[in-house]
Amino acid sequence: MPLMRFLITAGPTREAIDPVRYLTNHSSGKMGYCLAEAAVHEGHSVLLISGPTSLDIPHGVDFLPVECAQEMYDAVKNQAPYADAAILSAAVADYRPVSVPDRKIKKTGERMILELERTADILGSMRAEFGFSGILVGFAAETHDVENYARGKLERKRCDMIVANDVSRSDIGFNSSENEVLLVYPDRTEFLEKAPKAQIALQIIERASRLAQGKAPS
Ligand code: PMT
Repeated sequence: MPLMRFLITAGPTREAIDPVRYLTNHSSGKMGYCLAEAAVHEGHSVLLISGPTSLDIPHGVDFLPVECAQEMYDAVKNQAPYADAAILSAAVADYRPVSVPDRKIKKTGERMILELERTADILGSMRAEFGFSGILVGFAAETHDVENYARGKLERKRCDMIVANDVSRSDIGFNSSENEVLLVYPDRTEFLEKAPKAQIALQIIERASRLAQGKAPS
């Protein structure tokens, strides 16, 4: 199979509330780091764009650390032109505080309302805004109707494949060492049974490489 340049996103983002507090989620980065390792193992070159995690940087990858959704958006936008395939596995915050004071917010006896605004949709920007024409793989973290929501994302965001996982389960998904996923393609769905994330990652890289072969001009 031809060797490719993969852009992979991983981990959570942190959206600042003030200089000492932030909003985030349960992503450990394991799934994305396993994808990066799997792609290197198969001989591909990898740029890993990662939110904050406690994991070691995998050997052989180019690494770009980011903190918040906007930084991840900017990094992906800048780097997408150099990638043959992009796998966006990061758990990017969908909302961030509208304003971030430069001093710690002092507590009072009153309730506090935090006003949030949408972050930029990185996956949804890949085709139309960034002009990315390579293999595009998104993830879907769902708690119900997993396949339906994943298929909706596949179509709206013009992906070649969506990797869907059920994040209501504690044995897979967020911060576990195993995953069980549906690979949703435009014309079919494939089930990958529960296995270590490293093994799931190898299968995803193999499927992405096949998709690239199918897309390559003959
Ligand atoms: O990191 P781990 O602990 O190993 O956990 C792995 C995982 C559960 C985080 C991973 O398997 C996973 O599901 N990643 C996607 C998490 C997510 O944010 O899903 P979503 O359904 O909310 O987003 C759908 C897609 O849009 C994803 O490809 C996401 O990267 C992307 N997105 C989301 C928001 C945003 N502002 N921009 C985006 O590009």
